[in-house]
Amino acid sequence: ADTLGAAAAGKGRYFGAAVAANHLGEAQYVNTLNTEFNSVTPENEMKWDALEPSRGSFGFGNADRIVNHAQGRGMSVRGHTLVWHSQLPGWVSGLGASDLRSAMNNHINQVMAHYRGKIHSWDVVNEAFQDGNSGARRSSPFQDRLGNGFIEEAFRTARAADPNAKLCYNDYNTDGVNAKSNAVYAMVRDFKSRGVPIDCVGFQSHFNSASPVPSDYRANLQRFADLGVDVQITELDIEGSGAAQATGYGTVVTACLAVSRCTGITVWGIPDKYSWRSGGTPLLFDDNYTKKPAYHAVLSAL
Ligand code: XIL
Repeated sequence: ADTLGAAAAGKGRYFGAAVAANHLGEAQYVNTLNTEFNSVTPENEMKWDALEPSRGSFGFGNADRIVNHAQGRGMSVRGHTLVWHSQLPGWVSGLGASDLRSAMNNHINQVMAHYRGKIHSWDVVNEAFQDGNSGARRSSPFQDRLGNGFIEEAFRTARAADPNAKLCYNDYNTDGVNAKSNAVYAMVRDFKSRGVPIDCVGFQSHFNSASPVPSDYRANLQRFADLGVDVQITELDIEGSGAAQATGYGTVVTACLAVSRCTGITVWGIPDKYSWRSGGTPLLFDDNYTKKPAYHAVLSAL
């Protein structure tokens, strides 16, 4: 196969990109998206502040543009993300516990109902654990007011709202075996043992020279898969350039293919110029949409 999506499909995987609605009018962007990728994640358009900027007022326009684009071309869609401490509108942080609980469940219900049947996998909860060695939960309105049970509640609500979507927990700095990934692992094991619905774990995989692809990346993916969940590479980008960057990308793809439950890879953008890491060149295409060495490394690893 000579595109990322077709090569990944040949291995039973998807290959996706984070997409921004405001670039869908750019011919080269759309052409690259349509040619190379068979899955999309809205980069910002499904976050709480985008979908429900004030309580009970939902606006799906930008997210719908991405979903419609994908559906018209047979691409799957990852939903990102229902419950997250960031890009959260101010009104949510102002609520007391019982109001917050109903706002969270209502948000999940309304958004998942709107997209029922159209989303392959949802990041139900994003980034709920702290960095560092504590393995503790991160402070957030949800954690601080609802306690540890908010994650479980969000997943139970999500299962009822769209029983056919895969429900994922997604985080960063969990890509290797470390205290943070151990804490996520313990949560997933607990959920599986108690029948709390969870289907997948997303590994964001934002890498740079200070935080390169861990040597135990594949082993870490495999230990999660062995709990009985799918694993997905959800936001891959690797700062750098040339052969070193290409090697990093190749390592990630090879690791995913070595884990039968690693069902797909999403890169966090298409050309470098639109990366959220504004200073760097972390993606597969340069600013003119020319394929970089990293692109060729991914294609040959697939
Ligand atoms: C980033 C987007 O790429 C930016 O455009 C936005 O300004 C901030 O969020 N972890 C996540 C993603 O789960 O949602 C973040 O996306 C990157 C880090």
